[in-house]
Amino acid sequence: MNIVMIGTGYVGLSTGLGFASLGHHVACVDIDPEKIALLDRGQAPMYEPGIQEMLKSQQELGQIVFTAELSSVIDEADVVMIAVQTPPQNNGESDLSYVFSAAEQIARLIDHEVLIVIKSTVPVGTNRRVIARMREVLAEVGREDLETLIQIASVPEFLRQGSALTDFLNPDRIVIGADDTIVFETIERMHSGLSAPIVRTTIESSELVKSSANAFLATKISFINEIANVCELTGADVREVAKGIGLDPRIGNRFLQPGIGYGGSCFPKDVSALRSLAGLNGYDFRLLRSVIEVNTKQREVFLKKIVDRLKPMKGRRVAVWGLSFKPDTDDTRDSASIDLVRMIVGLGVDVVAYDPKAMANAKRILPDTVKFAPTAIDAAEGADALLVLTEWPEFQDVSFPTLQSFMASPIIFDGRNWLIDKHLPSLGFEYHGVGVCASNKF
Ligand code: UGA
Repeated sequence: MNIVMIGTGYVGLSTGLGFASLGHHVACVDIDPEKIALLDRGQAPMYEPGIQEMLKSQQELGQIVFTAELSSVIDEADVVMIAVQTPPQNNGESDLSYVFSAAEQIARLIDHEVLIVIKSTVPVGTNRRVIARMREVLAEVGREDLETLIQIASVPEFLRQGSALTDFLNPDRIVIGADDTIVFETIERMHSGLSAPIVRTTIESSELVKSSANAFLATKISFINEIANVCELTGADVREVAKGIGLDPRIGNRFLQPGIGYGGSCFPKDVSALRSLAGLNGYDFRLLRSVIEVNTKQREVFLKKIVDRLKPMKGRRVAVWGLSFKPDTDDTRDSASIDLVRMIVGLGVDVVAYDPKAMANAKRILPDTVKFAPTAIDAAEGADALLVLTEWPEFQDVSFPTLQSFMASPIIFDGRNWLIDKHLPSLGFEYHGVGVCASNKF
């Protein structure tokens, strides 16, 4: 099939490359000409494991091309996928202007039967509004004859940053929301080569599957963060509690890692958007209000622990390991780590930070006073404390005796319990995790 993918963020690019690897011809379109020029030269615009290699190989095979001009590729398209961003707005709703602008552009250019697939995460009702708007545009340009030849389907993505390609190639399920048997069959054919249960739904259900999945996972995280806080007050250990409940298949052991709260471009936005959508429909989704509150509060809970131990904060020197919102990505959008760095800097602390991939992005958004070090150990030199805020694998491999000798005082606040198994107290560190009592033996 000939697939046009509009949007080359991590979802559009990983999905485009994934479909190319399944044997489809893919043309990726983006309004950013610099990004397209980079991709055309075979360079991935973001760090995402496996993307660079897959990009090279699919380009060499001629399976994927990149262009800033939709008009140059649309004539050949069987399917046009929209995978543009839907950034958060101040009122909690998602900004759908990129989705509508892509759809309008398609409607102005199209000259044949085509299937539109929405990949972007959108509130319930958006697909139908998009197709209605496209039909209006077709009428404006005098192409009413195409109105019934354009169909729409909602096929949400469940890709995690840091493992987007692997997730594409090994899906848990493929959810297809459509109105028409032929549309279901076309989309199923597109995915042939992947092994996963197919869930056929209405368009509305499919849209809500995506929002609900993210909201449920975020709820799990806020739940375990609250349990972690209770553990600290009662002498329990959240790792043991998580293991004890996670073995119950009704609960499951994933997404029970406590920490400084969830971040990224998806959970914060999608939880707020679902809550807003419910509100707009006259329903107060109280559980999600708490999920959001707990997530915000969790950063403050961690900060309080640091302040209680180090105060007075002014003039302190603190090292930070990890700036991306999770490991294996250079993305710092809504990163809990970035928030914490800002809060600490606000208390008059000198921060020296290190991240294996996200420093360039972090530099653009952090205050100028934050310094950056070339290695994790360099960041910790002379520090009064070290904060571990993202669980990058290389942090587990540092030489802890060297780290201990480099720090002014070897105090570690581990916001992800990432170094908890390193027996740091026995190496002379004072170690503070999340949901584990100081009296616990590590
Ligand atoms: C999330 C979903 O997991 C994907 O299924 C979905 O497709 C994607 O959003 C999206 O909507 O596009 P992602 O944001 O890449 O993926 O990252 P996650 O692995 O879900 O982590 C999100 C945040 O939760 C991170 O800040 C992570 O540190 C935090 N987290 C995750 C925890 O604090 N504890 C956990 O146990 C798991």
